[in-house]
Amino acid sequence: MRDTARGWHQDGLSIGLVPTMGALHAGHMSLVDAARHENDRVVVSIFVNPMQFGAGEDLGRYPRSPEHDQSMLRAAAVDAIYKPSVADMYPPGSSSRVVVHGVTDRLEGAARPGHFEGVATVVTKLFTATSADRAYFGQKDAQQVAVVRRLALDLDLGVEIRVCPTVREADGLALSSRNAYLSPPERQAAVCLSRALGLAAEAYGRGERDPVRLRAILQGPIEAEPLARLEYAEVVDPSTFSPGGSLAVLAVRIGKTRLIDNYDLKLPYPG
Ligand code: PAJ
Repeated sequence: MRDTARGWHQDGLSIGLVPTMGALHAGHMSLVDAARHENDRVVVSIFVNPMQFGAGEDLGRYPRSPEHDQSMLRAAAVDAIYKPSVADMYPPGSSSRVVVHGVTDRLEGAARPGHFEGVATVVTKLFTATSADRAYFGQKDAQQVAVVRRLALDLDLGVEIRVCPTVREADGLALSSRNAYLSPPERQAAVCLSRALGLAAEAYGRGERDPVRLRAILQGPIEAEPLARLEYAEVVDPSTFSPGGSLAVLAVRIGKTRLIDNYDLKLPYPG
């Protein structure tokens, strides 16, 4: 991968990287499209990164669809698929980690200890291996975006971080590889996340700024849904993830499946 990327740079070509864990859907492909528009060469990495999964999490059953992924990427005419093995990424004796402080303290960072350390470490390695000029991330994982931006800035990685809007189903549910875990009734229940964000955006549009009331509005549709259990609902600053600002973030369990979503309340809510 590094040799290929170096060759492209020698020819004066720019490189866009889309890091993924595979099981590709239209959300991932929106990042590929953005990368296609802004770079001469596009690399998509597919690596289910064990380091970012906690002990009781879904690493073992994380959805994998290699043939489907390959045909989607071939149709999108990407220039390279970078698919390292776990042993390529973390050979025996591998013991270095990238740690981002502060923005990782709360919410996803608190709920999933070690998660962002795994993300920061693998993303740094992917940036290095692909010599990316730009890397594409989804707003769907808003705290991951904040972590990666901080990381790229702090470590002078020389990669421009580009963020693409969340792609949603017609009823508002954010696309996610983990939606495959939902049974039909759970899939119906899962719409409570986007409904909650919509109500909060509406209230914000009417001038509501009280964080306690905004949080109560976010909680309403989740608590009304028998199959849902709220993990957190907050309005935070999108770069620091401390309270304040206008980014509404949600984590909800639907049955055994943990879903996250977010919305910038300053934007009008579509639908
Ligand atoms: P993964 O969950 O496969 O997501 C890859 C990228 O697709 C992330 O940047 C994510 O935010 C984006 N994405 C997922 N669903 C989306 C949607 N509905 N709309 C727009 N973008 C969406 O996120 C990871 O993998 C990993 O943590 C990774 C960055 C690859 C590091 O291992």
